[in-house]
Amino acid sequence: MHRCTVRFVEQRWLRSVRCMSSTVGRRRALRSAFPVLDLPLQPVHQHVYEANLRNSSACHKKYTEFSEKVRRGGGENATARHTQRNKKLLVRDRLGLLLDDEDFLELSPFAGLGLPYGDIPSAGCLTGVGRINGLWCVFIANDATVKGGTAYPITVKKQLRAQEIAIQNRLPCVYLVDSGGAFLPLQSEIFPDKNQGGRTFYNEAIMSSMKIPQVSVVCGSCTAGGAYIPTMAEEAVMVHRIGTIFLGGPPLVKAATGEEVTPEDLGGARLHAEVSGCVDHFAWDEKEAFNYTRNIISTLNFHLPEEDEGETKKSRAEEEPLYSSEELSGLAPQSYNYTVDVKMVVSRLIDGSRFQEFKARYGTTLVTGFAKIHGHLVGVVANNGELSYEAALKGSHFVQLCDQRDVPLLFLQNTAPTAAATPSMKRAEINTNRLKAQGSMMSAVACASVPKITVVIGGCHGADSYAMCGRSFDPNFLFLWPNARVAVTAPGHAGSLLPPDAEQQEEERLNRRLKEESSAFFSSGRMWDDGVVLPQDTRKVLGDSLDIIKQQQYQLSTEKLRSTLLRM
Ligand code: COA
Repeated sequence: MHRCTVRFVEQRWLRSVRCMSSTVGRRRALRSAFPVLDLPLQPVHQHVYEANLRNSSACHKKYTEFSEKVRRGGGENATARHTQRNKKLLVRDRLGLLLDDEDFLELSPFAGLGLPYGDIPSAGCLTGVGRINGLWCVFIANDATVKGGTAYPITVKKQLRAQEIAIQNRLPCVYLVDSGGAFLPLQSEIFPDKNQGGRTFYNEAIMSSMKIPQVSVVCGSCTAGGAYIPTMAEEAVMVHRIGTIFLGGPPLVKAATGEEVTPEDLGGARLHAEVSGCVDHFAWDEKEAFNYTRNIISTLNFHLPEEDEGETKKSRAEEEPLYSSEELSGLAPQSYNYTVDVKMVVSRLIDGSRFQEFKARYGTTLVTGFAKIHGHLVGVVANNGELSYEAALKGSHFVQLCDQRDVPLLFLQNTAPTAAATPSMKRAEINTNRLKAQGSMMSAVACASVPKITVVIGGCHGADSYAMCGRSFDPNFLFLWPNARVAVTAPGHAGSLLPPDAEQQEEERLNRRLKEESSAFFSSGRMWDDGVVLPQDTRKVLGDSLDIIKQQQYQLSTEKLRSTLLRM
């Protein structure tokens, strides 16, 4: 055997031995019902594994570069203006004071990067899910270092998505408002349409009627449209000398009436806490405001299980997979041709690598079965090749089965780059049957009322991606691995989109464009997903997402929600 191959096998073997010895106890709990998917890396995978690893490390580099860019917000000058002149805390420091711990599932952090109108770090607004007093809440927090926290089209999109997540998962919502209202040069793209500016306020009203609690903290400017966020929340806190609420600021008053007025007198915390009654709590500083907010959250009528009731965090963490999740970077396909058996991916994501497979011998290009992730039971639906007639039929069956049993679904998507051509009657018949089965699977996925999470681990191409619960099929969360490619067809397959007499140059040009536009970062910049997640972090993200989704069962009053949902 080649020396390198020997070393490769030895390393994997040693790691496996170490893992196995420490997991004996953990594996007991699931032993009876869920057999172990023991799929170590083999020498035969080495070529694919190493090529994928090289690609993943290039993607990781880009991920780090983007993360650093986002962390810098609006840049040095804007940060200095924000903290020194305006004496405000930075948005991440605000969240640090509000949250119980660092466990914050940030949503779409790369939204706003690489847009036709420039780079808008974090789309000018951080969103995510974190805990206050143990309760998962959605946070929508303007970053005023990015053009005064004004709303670009992508900012509106991001806010609406965060509200949608709050609605879908019945999560309390906390708004940290620090915004100059509409970004005026792009006002026509954020103002009039259904899913634009006004929708935020519409959602606030609907969320209230659904008993989804909303709290607003005015820790900066709330100008124009921004003014309705605190006034429509159930409870609002406002910070002295930092928060202002008005439809038009002092310059507008001066222009209209010639009167000179200070921001404090026109719409400061004193005015709104003592005269207008727009806010309910007056805070002398930001720290006090966040304490008020934490106190408000403690009055929400949720009854969370105590740590010692049922599964504790510790016991959940004990069910680690058999093999390290670090290996997922080498299993993340750089292209469809570098795809490995998806069960190898599944086994590195689930508790104890234990999997109860469903229809193991039928439609094997789709893997379906039950597993647990951090103690949460899920139905896994994972691409393992083309979504054939049999695979789609099996997919429909399994999705309906999970729906009937109220088991959340996890889709691991890696769809094939192109649809098969139809050169013969036989092939046409196969394709037509497949079409019908895929249509059935789409119906099953669309109509399943259980929570769904999608992770694009490779390709997200063509109609197969709909059946695998793509964005338009409304998953509760949709994440991408950095190696993911999102396009009607994959780069390198442009020929299938062009007429037969197209010039080669044209094909090359289209392939280049497909490559650029199908990257995970291009997708995430436009918010076609909820964020790029590193393969090795996926298990944790899935565990948190499932925890978040589950929380709604602890809210004591849910009757009104059901009747409202039926009307929507
Ligand atoms: N549209 C576009 N750009 C805006 C903006 C708006 N509504 N409001 C502020 N900006 C830009 C500023 O031009 C500035 O850009 P620059 O960094 O390239 O110079 C940046 O945002 C920061 O504004 P600045 O006024 O320097 O910062 P500040 O912290 O002192 O004040 C605001 C921030 C938001 C309170 C203040 O700019 C303001 O009141 N803006 C007008 C708000 C308004 O009337 N909105 C109506 C929308 S319908």
